[in-house]
Formats: sequence, structure tokens, C-alpha cells
Amino acid sequence: MSEQKVTVRRDGEVGVIEIDNPPVNALGGAVRKGIWDGLHDLQGAGVSAIVLACKGRTFSGGADITEFGKPPVEPGLSVLIDEIEASDVPVVAAVFGTALGGGFEIALGCHYRVGPSSVKLGLPEVKLGLLPGAGGTQRLPRAIGMEAALPPIVTGDPIPGDEAAKLGLLDRVIEGDLTEGAIAFAREVAGKPVRRLSRDDTALASTKADPIAFEEAATRLLSRSRGLKAPAACVQAVRNCLTMDFADGSKWERETFHDLRSGEESAAQRHHFFAERAALKLPGVGKEVQPRPVKKIAVIGAGTMGGGITMSMATGGYDVVMIDKSQEALDRGFGIIEKNYRKTQARGGFTEAEVDGALSRISLATELSAAADADMVIEAVYENLDLKKSIFAELDKVAKPGAVLASNTSTLDVDEIAAATSRPADVMGMHFFSPANVMKLLENIRGEKSSPDILVTANTVGKQAGKIPVTVGVCNGFAGNRMGGARARQVQRMLLEGAMPQDVDRVAKAFGFAMGPLAVNDLAGLDIGYAVRKERGEKSPIADKLAEMGRYGQKTGAGFYLYEGGSRTPIPDPFVENLIRETSAEHGFTPREIPEQEILDRLLFPLINEGAQILDEGIAIRSSDLDLIWVNGFGFPLAKGGPMFWADREGVGNVYERLKGYYEVSGDPNLEPKPLLQHLAKTGSSFADWSKGRG
Ligand code: 3HC
Repeated sequence: MSEQKVTVRRDGEVGVIEIDNPPVNALGGAVRKGIWDGLHDLQGAGVSAIVLACKGRTFSGGADITEFGKPPVEPGLSVLIDEIEASDVPVVAAVFGTALGGGFEIALGCHYRVGPSSVKLGLPEVKLGLLPGAGGTQRLPRAIGMEAALPPIVTGDPIPGDEAAKLGLLDRVIEGDLTEGAIAFAREVAGKPVRRLSRDDTALASTKADPIAFEEAATRLLSRSRGLKAPAACVQAVRNCLTMDFADGSKWERETFHDLRSGEESAAQRHHFFAERAALKLPGVGKEVQPRPVKKIAVIGAGTMGGGITMSMATGGYDVVMIDKSQEALDRGFGIIEKNYRKTQARGGFTEAEVDGALSRISLATELSAAADADMVIEAVYENLDLKKSIFAELDKVAKPGAVLASNTSTLDVDEIAAATSRPADVMGMHFFSPANVMKLLENIRGEKSSPDILVTANTVGKQAGKIPVTVGVCNGFAGNRMGGARARQVQRMLLEGAMPQDVDRVAKAFGFAMGPLAVNDLAGLDIGYAVRKERGEKSPIADKLAEMGRYGQKTGAGFYLYEGGSRTPIPDPFVENLIRETSAEHGFTPREIPEQEILDRLLFPLINEGAQILDEGIAIRSSDLDLIWVNGFGFPLAKGGPMFWADREGVGNVYERLKGYYEVSGDPNLEPKPLLQHLAKTGSSFADWSKGRG
């Protein structure tokens, strides 16, 4: 058949169409054509039933995302699915692994679905800034009812096989040989009248009679959708089942799919999908480099970071021993872990069994020797180089050969820490972000001597623990905080030039950041940044003054803003405004009103400029890694894709020209365009182009 991606055979009266398009059986043009031809060939040959099966590790990952934006190839997926459904002989989908997006939609077009209880059926299009575009929003409600169909469509989270069986989505659970079982099932249903979901509105009746519960669920789901367009479109598509027939509902769905697909939000989210996968590829590290086996992890430090890391690892299924010198600190740390788990359980984030399981995997110890049988050790004590070095020297004595030794440092030199051991090849940084049980970003820090297989191990463990790992090299602040430092210097400069904290934060929020940078400073604590600057001999006139006054931010009720009665709502403070004006005068500035466009540029350009330098120095591998870091660790709006993606869409040349303009007017050395930015601008290139082929 077409490029051998689809084969067709007969098993007696039953025809079998088998897709073989590794790695995930994406439904590209050749696959669709192969299924189309196979269907007609088998119908012409007079088979009594047809099984649609897939080879490899999974049923199908859906439409081929790499085809998006290219000229359409016939037959389209919707047309193919309609053709399958129209078949007079029953078609049975043999699903396993994952049936996602178009993969699930094709299974919904089949008249029956069979598979193991481990299968996951899902419509994750929303995570790519889309809605299901091949009938999923119309067939799934007709299969299981509108209320049951809404959450998987709006969140994109898959339906596990056992639940699918209860909902009637799986007509038979088959744990043994799937293709054989599906053929046997097909023989049983051969000759029976087929049920076509597109023509059966029975399951819509209860919501049609009373749509209140549906609307309440929709409101609840959308309240968590961060204002993105796709989730709202998903809700509307399902809601259309109330007022439109299948044909009109499908037409609306398809048109909206095309609108979203050509929009910026979906481009940004698709960029993320590929960025996450690219970040796991390390230059010069081939598939032959396997992760070291990890079952048990030791976490040193029972403070906020240690506790959060312990939770992430226990949730990921690892046995974790949390080690701290004091039993009291361990008990307190474990108490907080338990409380956090139960809170998430109460909100429906975990089942009771999941929480019980995770807690049972955690043990506590007061001696470092408890790390002796750990496959990985993550040190998470406070940021002090001497302390960390002494712990690593001690670990060198107790840890078993081959254990990965990682420091959760956010600022310190991993190479110096590694040098405190006799095995620097086993040492690296694993930089978690607070709260570590919630934040997705994991900056894995490759030391000068870190061996490739420990980097692969840290990526594997990070992924298993639900993180988005990104590997970067050693430098001050690594990638994320170093870019943040460049932005912070520019924010302070804008205050000196006449902007007020609320002006800067308003512009940041309007762009899509959940919080403005000054409100973030108040949340993190102004004392923290002050201590870091002091150690590095840096100054930040306004932030330093506030910290010296004991205005540390939210925790003291005052920082850049006021926080009344323990509230987290920042209130502009006339005292701070005066302080800014005074400091500005002391430094010889004449305050001016800074236009919003300039504020936005000066919030974003420092990230891009520093990012360019980080790439040029080889600290980060590719520009999409920096986008992952800023979206998952620093609240950069997902809908905008990340600073480097945004720069590419804006045009690197435009960014360069505007940045150069600000630099020339202000003379601020922090605004001087970096060589790589200038080079890309002059050659009409982009960060994405520059990154191609790197790893
Ligand atoms: N199209 C093109 N490539 C895809 C793909 C897709 N739908 N799904 C996965 N891939 C690629 C990945 O980019 C990766 O490529 P690489 O090896 O070059 O980096 C490779 O397949 C393997 O993917 P993973 O590393 O993610 O493999 P896993 O085994 O960890 O996961 C999976 C498999 C669960 C299928 C996961 O890949 C996944 O979630 N895929 C995306 C599913 C999705 O979003 N589907 C909806 C597509 S849009 C659609 O169907 C529109 C329709 O409604 C009209």
C-alpha cells in the first residue's frame, strides 16, 4: 500500500487494515490514503467485518502535526472518518497504548472499539491550542453524554481504559493478543446492524432537557483555562450539540479548528510541544547512552525545597529518603508534605490511594549514611558553597558507586561542588523551582565533567516526576535567573526614569504574565535578592532601600506595594512613589512618563538579549530551551510561546533596531545589543534557524 504505512489482509471473512507509521502512527496523508484504499478494497471484496489495527507501541498519536501549515492532502481526516462510519460492514478499532486526537476520532468513527484496560483515549488538541477537528467534539458527546465528554475535551486529559469501558467507549476489554481478539470480536458482530454515532442523539437527551449542570461544569473548567482561546472553543463546540445537528456542529468545529490552527496561540503551543521533546536531546549524546537505573532517591534537606522535591519524586513513583540533621525538621517537613498531599486530594488532584502510595514511599533519616543505597542523591540545603562542598565531600564517602550526585543550587558553581568529590563525572546540578512540587521547570545543570549518562538520567527522572527538564551549562544564575537578572536591572532603571511599580506590572499583566515583576519580587521576598546582590557586590538603588527598611514584600505587609491585613493584593503605596522620585533625583534622572510600548519592550528585550548571549556562550543548546524555561519557570505566557519564539515572530531585526534605539537614547549599558542578536538581525535570520541542527 502507500509507502507501506498501511497494509491490508484478510483473515477469513474479516478484513484487517493495519497502520505502521512509527513512532506514533500519526495520521499523515499516506496513512489516510492507505486506510481509504484498504477500506474500499475490503468492501469490494465482500468481507463481513473490518478490524482497524496499528503496529508498534501505540494506536495513534493523531493527526500529523508536522503537516500543519502545508498544502492539504486528500483524503482529509474528517472525510475519511465519515467514510469509515458510513461502512455497512462493521468496523472495529483495536486500540492500545494511546488513541489521541485524530487517533481517537478515527476510533469514534468506527462502530466498535476493543482494547486493553491500559489504553488511554484522549482528545489533547486543546494542549496544542486547538479543538478536535475531525468530529471529536460531536461524536464523543453522542457516545457518552455531554457532561462526561466536556472535561476530556476541555482539559485534554485522556480517559483511562477501565473508565472508558464503564462509559461504554470500549465495547470489550481484551488483555491478550489484541489483533486476534479484535478479529474474533469482529466475527461476533458481523452481519449485525451498525450504530453510527453521528446519527444517534440519544445520549444528548439529558443535557438537552436540563443544561444547568453542563453550564456549571463549563464555567468551572474555563476558570482554569488562563484566558486561552482553545478551551473556550472546545466548550462552545460541545455546547453546539444542544442547538445544531451533527452536520452543522461538525462544520462549526472544522472551521474553528482551521481558525485556531492559523492563529498565534496554537503556533506557540505547538512550538512548546516540539520544544519539550527537543530539550531531551543532548548534542553528541546518542540513543546508545542509556539512563542509569534509579529506584531510590535521597533528598538532603527537609526545608521548603527539600520537601517539594521529595513530593515530586514520591509522586513519580520513586522511593525517597529525606535526610536532615534534626528530627524536628524532618517531622515538620513530613507534616507539610502530608498536608500538601491531602489538600490536593481534597481538590481532586490525587486519589486517596495515590496519596497513601506516595506517602508510603517516603522515609526519614537523620544521618547522611541513609543515602548509601540511593541511586540518586539530590542535595537541597540552603545556598552556601562551603556547606554544599562539605556535604558533597561526605557524600563521596557514603554514596554507592554510580549514584548520581546532584545539587539543587540556583546560583552556585556546580564545578566547584563537583571538585569536592573524587567523582566529578557523577556530579551535576538539578535546579528545581519553588514550590518544587508544583513548578514544572527543572534546569539540569551540566558541570564541566558531568558524564553524559547522568544528564540522561536526570532528564529521565525529571520526566517521570512530571517535570519539564532543560539542560544548561554552568554560569552565574544559569539560564533562567540570568535572563531574569537582566530584566530586573531594566525594571529598576525604568523606575528611576519615572515609571511606577504599578505601571510596569500593569503592562506585564496585559501582555499575559500572571503577575508583574515587582509584585513577583514582593512575593519572593526583597530580602532574598538583596542578600544575593550583596554577595555579588551589586546594587539596585530602590530595591536595596526597601530591603534595608525591612520592607521585604508580602511577608512583612509592605515592599514595592502595601498588603493590608495579610491580603495578597498589591496596593500602590504613595510612600514608595516618593521614595522612587527621591532616588531618581539623587541619581540625576528627570522623571518622564514612559509609553506603554516602551515599557513592554524593555521588559521583553533584556530577556531576548541575554538569551542571545546565553546561546552564543553555549550555556543553552537551542532557543526553544529558553522558551521552555521562561514559560514553565517564570510565568511567561504560554500563548506567546516564550521570549525567543516571540522575538522570532516579532522579527529579530525589529527587536534589534528598537533595542539599539533605547540603548542609544539612554546610554544604559544593559541595553546594548549582544553580538548574536546583531548577527541574526543583520543576516535576516531567526533564533529558530540558528538553533537548527544543534542537538
Ligand atoms: N504528529 C507528529 N509527530 C508526533 C505526533 C503527532 N501527532 N505525536 C508525537 N509525535 C512525534 C514527537 O514529536 C516525537 O518526535 P521526535 O522523536 O522526533 O522528538 C515522536 O513522535 C515520539 O513522541 P514522544 O517522544 O512524545 O513519545 P511518547 O511515547 O513519550 O508519547 C504520545 C507518545 C503520547 C503519542 C505523545 O507523542 C503525544 O502526546 N503526541 C501528541 C498527541 C496529540 O496532541 N495529538 C493531537 C494531534 S492534533 C489532531 O489530532 C487534530 C485532529 O483533531 C484533527
